[in-house]
Amino acid sequence: MAVALAARRVFAAVPDAAAAAGATRPRFTSNPFTLGVASGQPRPHSVVLWTRLAPQPLQPGGGLDPVPVEVRWQLAEDRLFSRGLREGTVLAQAALAHSERVPVGSLDSARAYHYRFMVGDAVSATGRTRTAPAEDAQPARLRLALASCQHYEQGHYAAHRELAGLDLDVVLFVGDYIYDSSNPRYLIRPHEVAEKPRTLDAFRARHATYKLDLDLQACHAAHPWIVTWDDHEVRNDYAAALGTGDLPAHEFVAMRAAAYQAYFEHLPLLPAQQPAGAAMRLHDRFTWGQLAELWTVDARQYRSGQACNEPGTAGGHLQWHCAELRQPQRSMLGLAQERWLGQGLATSTRAWKLVGQATQMSPCGIDTPAGRVVYSDGWDGYAPARQRLLQGIADAGLRDVVMLGGDVHRHVAANLRVQPNEARSPVVASELVTSSISSRGVSEAAMALIRRSNPDILHARSDERGYMLCELDKHSLHCIARATAFPVTARASLHTQAVFAIESGRAGPQPG
Ligand SMILES: [Fe+2]
Repeated sequence: MAVALAARRVFAAVPDAAAAAGATRPRFTSNPFTLGVASGQPRPHSVVLWTRLAPQPLQPGGGLDPVPVEVRWQLAEDRLFSRGLREGTVLAQAALAHSERVPVGSLDSARAYHYRFMVGDAVSATGRTRTAPAEDAQPARLRLALASCQHYEQGHYAAHRELAGLDLDVVLFVGDYIYDSSNPRYLIRPHEVAEKPRTLDAFRARHATYKLDLDLQACHAAHPWIVTWDDHEVRNDYAAALGTGDLPAHEFVAMRAAAYQAYFEHLPLLPAQQPAGAAMRLHDRFTWGQLAELWTVDARQYRSGQACNEPGTAGGHLQWHCAELRQPQRSMLGLAQERWLGQGLATSTRAWKLVGQATQMSPCGIDTPAGRVVYSDGWDGYAPARQRLLQGIADAGLRDVVMLGGDVHRHVAANLRVQPNEARSPVVASELVTSSISSRGVSEAAMALIRRSNPDILHARSDERGYMLCELDKHSLHCIARATAFPVTARASLHTQAVFAIESGRAGPQPG
């Protein structure tokens, strides 16, 4: 029902629908587009345009009365909106915090467009977006930026400022778009409140704090984004319906519903992705002509609880001797999503098969005299599921599979084998993990232990923040790890920490 209402709202004819819905056409005394504009879901003939009306974005309701508001959108081939103009009107509803998602179809493939919104006398910033190449096209290249983990309190968004100035096809953001929690030891600029959000209004305010950052707005306005989430959009280390103990189970699920709705309201997603209660379909598939196929996966909503925890609670811990880690039915994606991804990979005809997923897939446990220690929240905590996925890639004889991850706050390049760290087990896929935009990484001492214990890891540095820039053609994928010191200051600039190349037909990153 909620989805049907959303669809009707977006495509409703105005002014009849506006009048019927009691829509207002207010005059604003301050800018209603404080949170900027964004686009996403780049397809061969469509994109989604996003904005939210919020003249006072940290206030409940964004400073608007709880009535629908009529908003105009425009999209054109040039910044002056003189060529190929398309426009329409939608109703921003209070139930969705006056956020709007406008799917615009019948567009040319592989083309840049410009877009903006208008309400009353106010005009938004102009955004730039891009459609994907046609399904059967042979594009020369794909330029993709990989980013994750932008703790607002822990640093400025110099990485987004740099990204906003680049010529990119798409930004792939793989999680921790907001953070629920604070760490007073690393406080550069505070969240709007110190408490963790629990209610819908509180999650909206948290998203607004992040979206008020002008560098983040610039990066959204410059490129279409493809997104998936990790844990901090709800609570650290949650697992499906399990929280980490600060709330009773039923309250955790209600809070997850609020967090998912606020996420839906603030990212450029399709209207059909509107959550129903605490359920929201986020995993998705994109194509870039015949050059690349990209799957984004959801590693939180359907996962098994972390192994060897107190019954009924989630949370990542260091585990030494935990037999549950080896139980084959345990899954990070849930078995249905695992099958969907495995079948998609096995039947893909595209040259490069990219998987955008939240965390590091290559092994990162530590060898100790008492045995190997693994962190139970990451893929090491779901080793049978990892093995199933990589065995499926090996069995299908797939070439050129690249896992693109985040979460661990370090730039990583790694080999992926069915048997991790076993030289006799062939490398079947490549992994690139981006460092965080701003969130702190583990200590260099811990990093050194991880590197020493895991020969599959070819590069790992946790001391710098940044993003990865990947450019691929049919012969190779080149990746530049851009970085700056922690904490990221307002005037920070980035440098190249490392360069990697993956040659078509040869799994495993090489120094570039
Ligand atoms: Fe993170």
